[in-house]
Amino acid sequence: MGDEKVNIHRGLVGIHFDRTQTTYINGKQGILEYRGYSIHDLAEKSTFEETAYLLLHGNLPNKAQLDEFDKILRSSRKIPSKVLKIIETIKSAHPMDVLRTAVSALSAFDKETDDKSYEATLRKGIRLTAQVPTIVMSHNAIRQNKKPVTPNPELSHAANFLYMLDGSIPPENTTKLMDKDFILHADHGSNASAFAARVCAGTQADLHSAITTGISVLSGPSHGGAAENVMKMVKEVRSPEKAKDYVTNLLRNKERVMGFGHRVYKAEDPRAGHLKEGVEALGKEKGDPGWYEILVAVMDAMKPYQRRGIHVNVDFFAGVIYHLLGIPTDLFVPIFAIGRIPGWTIQVLEQYEHNILLRPLLHYTGEHEKQYISIEKR
Ligand code: SDX
Repeated sequence: MGDEKVNIHRGLVGIHFDRTQTTYINGKQGILEYRGYSIHDLAEKSTFEETAYLLLHGNLPNKAQLDEFDKILRSSRKIPSKVLKIIETIKSAHPMDVLRTAVSALSAFDKETDDKSYEATLRKGIRLTAQVPTIVMSHNAIRQNKKPVTPNPELSHAANFLYMLDGSIPPENTTKLMDKDFILHADHGSNASAFAARVCAGTQADLHSAITTGISVLSGPSHGGAAENVMKMVKEVRSPEKAKDYVTNLLRNKERVMGFGHRVYKAEDPRAGHLKEGVEALGKEKGDPGWYEILVAVMDAMKPYQRRGIHVNVDFFAGVIYHLLGIPTDLFVPIFAIGRIPGWTIQVLEQYEHNILLRPLLHYTGEHEKQYISIEKR
């Protein structure tokens, strides 16, 4: 058992473990493409429904294909009353824990749960894309002892999500911003939650299991959990003038500034700029520009760290947008999950297509061949 020479890649930093045809990320240049289309084009010109179709099917839909896909999404938004009962039972839990539990429970009611064929998995992924917003907003109503707002088939994915918040039809501009947010969160290669979903699919577990895994991993503050923590940080900073001292303090205590840094991007996250514009416009429209000004002040305070590759990421602006839309802070990470369902689904489908069990090694550095001593003598 000599100490054979092994190369250990902690955190699997920089390790390519498979090939993909879905999402291209160039961390050095800050480039992101879904199926070869720039995130900038998709954010400005596409819709979440069209982008979800692109990710899942590999090509942009024509009008008939998009209409059919949209029709299926709109007709799949309901969740079984027994799942609503489970949500009622755990209504005081964090929305991410409720979402994880409800998605897991949905597998008991989905007629295709045991069918792991490509076609059935795709259908289940589309159903979950439609159902997850209903889970999040039904829980939000139930925990306030209100009746959940019934999903509205007349509304788009983003508009219906906002509609279920309080039963009012959202204005066009906020719907467009929410839609853009879902596009920007739709997929991101082998991020921690997608990697975990792939590990799950690698054992031939079903899609509900893989997406339940993804939701669990996304909830961590180093990943999706950052969006909620950025809002907490901005509330603690309170004014732009205090941003520099706040950031200096955090960094002096070796703490992380939420919404900054990324394992892959060492240039600015190409998604962040699209949300930055959104926060500024929404803040002005709501007569509440202060939050945007605090964000800009925090960005200025973090400028010196850019030379170390620490830039703003997708979570930095998203939280303030949700806050300005009147969405409770603990729903911020579930919103990330809502956008990511098509991404997790296509990652699972890719894993299934060329499946291999994902089982890396740990290099043992402990003791060997120790003598067993009976308990009387210990
Ligand atoms: C997402 O992977 C994906 O694609 C994820 C995502 C997706 O779409 O799925 O893009 C979404 O999760 C975005 C990231 C959201 N998380 C945060 O905003 C939380 C704050 N960020 C950090 O926790 C951190 O940047 C990570 C976890 C995101 C990335 O960390 P890494 O790659 O493991 O880098 P590291 O921790 O090794 O840091 C390298 C150096 C360290 O300094 P030294 O110890 O070498 O001196 O950079 C510093 C870190 O201290 N650093 C930060 C920092 N991020 C890194 N310092 C202060 N604040 C930060 N935010």
